[in-house]
Amino acid sequence: MKVLVTGGTGFIGSHTCCVLLEEGHEVVVIDNFSNSSKEVAEKIKEISDRNITLYEGDVADKDLLRGIFANEKIDVVIHFAAYKAVGESVKLPLKYYRNNLGNTLSLLEVMDEYNCKRLVFSSSATVYGTPEALPIKESFPLSTTNPYGTTKLMIEQILKDLAKADPTWSIAILRYFNPIGAHPSGLIGENPNDIPNNLMPYIVKVANKELEILSIFGDDYDTKDGTGVRDYIHVMDLAKGHLKAIEKVMKETKIDCYNLGTGEGYSVLELVETFKKVNNIDVPYQIVSRRPGDIAACYADPSYALEELGFKAEKGIEEMCKDAYNFIIKNKE
Ligand code: UD1
Repeated sequence: MKVLVTGGTGFIGSHTCCVLLEEGHEVVVIDNFSNSSKEVAEKIKEISDRNITLYEGDVADKDLLRGIFANEKIDVVIHFAAYKAVGESVKLPLKYYRNNLGNTLSLLEVMDEYNCKRLVFSSSATVYGTPEALPIKESFPLSTTNPYGTTKLMIEQILKDLAKADPTWSIAILRYFNPIGAHPSGLIGENPNDIPNNLMPYIVKVANKELEILSIFGDDYDTKDGTGVRDYIHVMDLAKGHLKAIEKVMKETKIDCYNLGTGEGYSVLELVETFKKVNNIDVPYQIVSRRPGDIAACYADPSYALEELGFKAEKGIEEMCKDAYNFIIKNKE
């Protein structure tokens, strides 16, 4: 199949491209490199020993998209391209609404023009807000706590309205839990340029002595050790979930949502201790106050994705911790 991947050089996008190429699919990427680089495209080719077609530009640019659809005979689209920093979205909401909603609307309009109506959309467990119970099922009520999350929820609604108006659309909405880890080659991974907001990139920078100390946001939650609990999923497992999702939208015409998580919750302290142990390296930390907007615990009920997509995450947190650090070591060299 020929797959258009928007944001294909980003963290999840790049790993998904590798898995698609490995499965024999043809990959066309559109990316403006706003949070990645052209080098990642080279690394994807190196890992898979195959070529990708790369278009540099913005997904909001309808003329560029029209050119792609006219040239390429795309079978299915995986839409990753989006801004994703929660804190920034609170400060600059218009930037997030303009980009995340604007580029999705352009994409959907051009897909419609070219009668390409199969889509996998990159959503997030953030759409469950503060979950009413655990583990989280797809049927739970939806709400958000920041503009980034609201863009994901609004796009889910746009897609549902679209599929209702035109049932020939086939759409899989993937709600990711917390993706970490990196490709086992160490060639691609997550490497934020700024001070990271998320836990694993921060741990890695402390281990690597680029940052002095990890601040753990609260140890007084109602969880096993008082620190926040999350469902960490290896980015390679997550990438495989996208493979299952494109198979689904090709064979069944419907819209549906799927949790992509492991179903296991680990605390911040458990993740830090595992990271220290498997990499044999120190990660100094201090306990500080809670981060506003954080919830105590969040983990998936992954059974619907198993039933409907045949997807099951296989890698454990030890491998996630090893691969995340391996990427940084390799990058340093
Ligand atoms: C965050 C976003 C979520 C987004 C996801 C992407 C919020 C409210 N949610 O999820 O929308 O989809 O990232 O992966 O921001 N922690 C520390 N110290 C740190 C950083 C984090 O103790 O320096 C703790 C947090 O309090 C939390 C856990 O680590 O308990 C995970 O945090 P993080 O990696 O930021 O992910 P989420 O907040 O779950």
